[in-house]
Amino acid sequence: MLIVLSLGGSILAKNLDSDRFLKYAKVLRDISKKHTLLVVTGGGEAARDYIGAARAIGADEVTCDYIGIEITRLNARLLIAALGPDAYPEIPSNYLEASKAMTSGKVVVMGGVTPGQTTDAVAAILAEYLRADLLTIATSIDGVYSSDPNCDPSAVKFDKISPEKLISIVMAIEMKAGSKSPVDPVAAKIIERCKLDALVMDARNPALLGEIMCGEAAKKSPVSCGTWITAKK
Ligand code: UTP
Repeated sequence: MLIVLSLGGSILAKNLDSDRFLKYAKVLRDISKKHTLLVVTGGGEAARDYIGAARAIGADEVTCDYIGIEITRLNARLLIAALGPDAYPEIPSNYLEASKAMTSGKVVVMGGVTPGQTTDAVAAILAEYLRADLLTIATSIDGVYSSDPNCDPSAVKFDKISPEKLISIVMAIEMKAGSKSPVDPVAAKIIERCKLDALVMDARNPALLGEIMCGEAAKKSPVSCGTWITAKK
């Protein structure tokens, strides 16, 4: 399978712990023995800190986005270092470069590309462009809920939903200040328009990410730690 993985900065770069980078690298190496793998790294806490500082300085939102992109690329650089010779050595700065890098047979790692979105959207666009078999959004929550579980105690988790349902949930969450959507709205729209199969999963434990990607993901069967998004009945 061809898999594009959106690896949240909040799980990969938590406390900027080098051991975590090495653990994820080991798991990604294992996954890449079974599948063709491209990884898009998020910015996590460092991106939020830098963006906060930029806003406090009075920077405009596009400048804040460019700063966020730099941090996602720094995390990509660290992950490439952790993967060593198993990674493509350069960070693609666009989708065409990523597609060329993929022909190397190595794990391709990239960060953000353009203001106005997050790395979930980058991963979804890359998955659409490469006609990937699967987009995995690896994050710190165990799937898509009917509303933000941090704000609404009656929120229920879905094991499987359609892309249309995902869009309606994401849009409702986005409209409430302080709520955080599990999937970026741009990514949700891309998933819908290309009927991409996607899995949103809790990947705080790198080993679990490896287990699911090497086992259940290939079968596309429900996983307790996540939500499947599919147009298939
Ligand atoms: P992230 O994708 O990390 O955002 O990008 P996030 O939602 O905070 O995800 P986690 O915490 O890593 O899981 C960080 C910031 O970088 C900018 C945005 O400002 C985003 O909030 N960015 C990223 C872009 O502007 N364009 C991109 O293509 C990617």
